[in-house]
Amino acid sequence: TYVIAEPCVDLLDKACIEECPVDCIYEGGRMMYIHPDECVDCGACEPVCPVEAIYYEDDVPDQWTAYTKANVDFFDELGSPGGASKVGKIEMDVEPAKSLPPQEH
Ligand code: F3S
Ligand code: F3S
Repeated sequence: TYVIAEPCVDLLDKACIEECPVDCIYEGGRMMYIHPDECVDCGACEPVCPVEAIYYEDDVPDQWTAYTKANVDFFDELGSPGGASKVGKIEMDVEPAKSLPPQEH
């Protein structure tokens, strides 16, 4: 799976969602989260993010490895909806994004 990391927090550029063929990039309160089971590893989202927030799971920079878990935890209660656009924005976040101070971009 691919993982969205800290640069997305308080930015949510959303260029990535246009590229995803399986609509598996979900909108939280402060960032987007990739569904780890729905992502088919096509990689189309990664190059279009203007702040390089998206990484293949094995390539997440050390300082942001907690975001690999965040992209899992976000779906604890949500399960696997099978499409982000029908779900819409979900007004919640998980750690570490949840407790991060406001991010300037
Ligand atoms: Fe976030 Fe980058 Fe997508 S800022 S919403 S991961 S294009
Ligand atoms: Fe979609 Fe990116 Fe995965 S485009 S399928 S979330 S690699």
